[in-house]
Order: sequence, then C-alpha cells, then structure tokens
Amino acid sequence: MKITAFPGKIEKTRAGAAAVAVFEGEKPGAGLSRVDKAMAGAVGRLIKRGDFTPKPGAVSILYPDGALAAERLLLVGFGKRSDLSAERVRLAAAKAAAAARSAGAHDLAFDLDGLNLDPLDLGQALTEGTLLGLYRFLRYKSENGEAKKQISALALLCDTASQAAGVKRGARTGEVIAASAIMARDMVSAPGADMTPLAIAGIARSMGRKHRLRVQVLDRRRIRNLGMGALLGVAAGSAQPPAFVVVEYRGGGRKPWVALVGKTITFDSGGISLKPGEGMDKMKDDMSGGAAVLGAIANAAALNLPLNVVALLPATENMPGGSAYKPGDILTTLSGKTIEIMNTDAEGRLILADALAYACRYKPAAIVDIATLTGACRIALGQEAAGMLGTNDGLKAQLRAAGEKTGERVWELPLWEGYCDLIKSDIADMKNTGGRDGGVITAACLLSKFVGNYPWVHLDIAATAWTEKDRPYTPKGATGFGCRLLTQFLRDYTASTKQQIPNHK
Ligand code: BES
Ligand code: MN
Ligand code: ZN
Repeated sequence: MKITAFPGKIEKTRAGAAAVAVFEGEKPGAGLSRVDKAMAGAVGRLIKRGDFTPKPGAVSILYPDGALAAERLLLVGFGKRSDLSAERVRLAAAKAAAAARSAGAHDLAFDLDGLNLDPLDLGQALTEGTLLGLYRFLRYKSENGEAKKQISALALLCDTASQAAGVKRGARTGEVIAASAIMARDMVSAPGADMTPLAIAGIARSMGRKHRLRVQVLDRRRIRNLGMGALLGVAAGSAQPPAFVVVEYRGGGRKPWVALVGKTITFDSGGISLKPGEGMDKMKDDMSGGAAVLGAIANAAALNLPLNVVALLPATENMPGGSAYKPGDILTTLSGKTIEIMNTDAEGRLILADALAYACRYKPAAIVDIATLTGACRIALGQEAAGMLGTNDGLKAQLRAAGEKTGERVWELPLWEGYCDLIKSDIADMKNTGGRDGGVITAACLLSKFVGNYPWVHLDIAATAWTEKDRPYTPKGATGFGCRLLTQFLRDYTASTKQQIPNHK
C-alpha cells in the first residue's frame, strides 16, 4: 500500500473514500464543518437525528454525489476526546479501511483534523490500524473474488507541513512494524506441513540477508553435540528435522545482549500423550512465539535500534511415532539439569529449557521468552492479555508499559516457591508437569530453572496468538501477538539497573 502524508483539505481531496473523525459530545471540528457545508448540512442532520453516533469504531458511509471531490464520505466515530489514544486510532483506522474496502473503494484519504496526538504516534497508529485491519490470509485460495477488493493507497491529510513531516515519519515506522506483524500472522496461518522447522530457518535466513542479521541454523547433529537433550527428545518422533535458529542483530556496539526466545513447535500433536482430535488443527499456531521474535528482531534492524539483540528459535514438531519420546523418559538438558517426562504434550517448556540455557551464554542484560505454552492461560486470563511471569520487576514493568502502548497487553501471575514445589521429581531434577493447579505458573517455574540469575520475563500467549472472533485490527485467525509488543519493548528498552535474585528461590 502506498501511504502518503501532506497538508490537504478533505473536501478537495480526490479519493474512493474520504474519512473524517467525529467525537462524542463535541461540536464538529474544522474539517467536518467544511464537509458539512459542502454537503449542504447533510452530515449535521445525520448526526442530529442520531442515525450516526460517534462511538469508537462506528462508521457511516455517505455518498456526496459531487459535493466533495471524494466518491464516498466515511464518518468515523472516535468516542470521547479525553479517551483518544494510539489504540483508539488503530481501531478507528481499521474500521474505516475495512468499510472503505467492502464498499469498493480503492484508496482512502483520512483527515487528521481533530486528532491531536503526537504526529509520530498518530502516523504510526493510523498506518498500523489500516494495514493490520485489512489483513487477510489468501495464500491458499485458488480463486477469490474478495481479493479484487483492495485498498492500494492511504493519504493522511494534515493541517500543516510540519505535522505532515511527523506523520510521515510515524507512518514509515508503522509500515515496518505492521509488515513484521503480518509476516508473523502469515507464518502462523500457514499449515504445519509447509511451515516446517526448515521452512522457518529459511525465512530467518532470507530475513538475515535483507537486514544484515547474522543467522545460524543448528541441525539435529549440532543440537545433539551441544547437548540439547530436551529439544532432541521432543524432536525424536518427527520425520521433519528440527532446527535451532539463532539470529543476531548488532546495533548496540559494546552493550550487553537482549535475548528473545520464542517457542517454535511447528505442529503440536501432543506426541505419545496425544491430544484429542477436536481443535488439533489449531496446533499449527504453536510456533507463534518464534514468529513473534523473528518479527521483533527484524524490526530492531529495520528501525536501526541502538541495541544488540539475539533471537533464539528452538524449532521442531511434536509427533508420536516409534522413535518418539515417552512418558517416564528422563531428558538431560543443555544446562545439565534433568527432566522427567510425565506428559509429552508439555513439550514447550522442554525446548525452551534448552533455548534459555543457550541464551545465558550471551550473558544477556535481559531474557524475554514468548510461548503458546499452556491451555491453562486461557482459563486464567481469557484472550484479553498474555500471562507474564518473571524474576525482575524492572523488566516486567517495561513489558507491561509496552503492552499498554501496543494494545498487546500482559498481566502478571505470581512465581512463588510453593508453586515450584509442584514440579519436584523423585528421580530427576524436576518433572515436566505439575498437575492441573496453576498450570501457567508451574510451566513458568520449570523455565525459571534455566535462566540463571539473568533478568527474565516469560510471556504465555497460548490464548492470544489466535482469535476465533473478528476484532477491528485483528481479524479472526492468527493475531501476530507479541511482535508489536516486543518491538515496542525494544524501542523503549533501558537496561534494568538492579539485578534481582529470583524471588522464588
Ligand atoms: N501448545 C500447547 C498449549 C496450548 C493449548 C496452546 C491450547 C494453545 C491452545 C502446549 O504444548 C500444551 O499442550 N500444554 C499442555 C500442558 C499440560 C500437558 C501440562 C496443556 O496446556 O494442556
Ligand atoms: Mn503440547
Ligand atoms: Zn505446545
């Protein structure tokens, strides 16, 4: 999509659709007044009759029939001005773009009159909302009439040249970030048969060429030689070879590393502890963590962030079979610690155990892992927030703040010692499940054994990586959750000065 920003008047702008913001309980602003005048009061009458109420995300289409330069006029509700935020803008932009597209418009002009946010944030939010809201996954449709309906240009109409300069810069940032989130969605939406560990390694490699990232792909032999017995165990039943993907972005000179670790199970059948059939198709989304960290490190590079970031993707299927790992097996992890397998469906924590231990080799200033780890997370928090657990308050606060900014919100659960008692094993250092109680937490307890004393936060995105419900800028399907969150976290990152000893030890 071609996105431009320039000073312009909405009533004079030629476009398939022109959108104007309407706030609740407020006199129309300058742009809206001029439009109303050009349309002989039609807009004012519509609002007065109550046929359009400017609730957040409400959209009405009017046909100016030559009264404006645009073919269609979209009134876009923004709610109360006091609630104006980047999230509101993303939401409204997504709704407007979707309405314009389904009406048949091919380009959209958005009047920024009245949208008094910082121009950088405004340009970014409008761009993200539009691109993410228009997202569709059509790769596997051989024929689709809908695909012809497309918005190919967005013009952001500003008040002044200096506002336009800021909005334009914000829009560029928004384009970068939305493109990565869309890449993550595409990866997650693709079937497990196509999005294999090697396919993901290939995507990482081509991303590396594009952005000057160092990419290493460790194959099964290297994984074995390093001693990643947990990743190897999970991969044992799969005909698809596993891969441990390491992506490094060096933009921070001598600064310490920030490590991002993403669960990359390309299909989770449960293994020998096979999942029930219903809903198993969705287990292709079990690599959403990996997709999110790939997107985030691509953004770090594209936005030239002054940081050193390493992304680690332990990638494998979890399959049953004659060579598969079994309940009762004991796996020796990269750290040397042993794990007794109670249930082969609790595989995510195993591959993360090895990846987190690998992350420690970087002596990182922070480790953030992100994983579709537990069904229990949906029970605990529903789909409104990812679960967050960790050992460093500063780091948690930074992720919480990034969540509020991006709308990819996180909510903390406790990581107390009592929970960690639940994964004690009689014959190994720990077992891989702790029973039904506090399933999000016992999974995180296991991870906590592999991060040393490095500041660490774990995000459980099992419930937020996929949505069955259409939301304004996350249409149903893969959400790309975590990509924008981690990108914002990196953009705002400051080393947490205080190293905290894990509070559960
Ligand atoms: N990938 C699943 C978690 C999951 C469940 C993600 C539903 C998305 C939707 C994970 O590997 C898993 O199977 N976890 C088990 C753990 C249990 C065996 C302790 C679970 O949550 O049931
Ligand atoms: Mn599983
Ligand atoms: Zn899984």
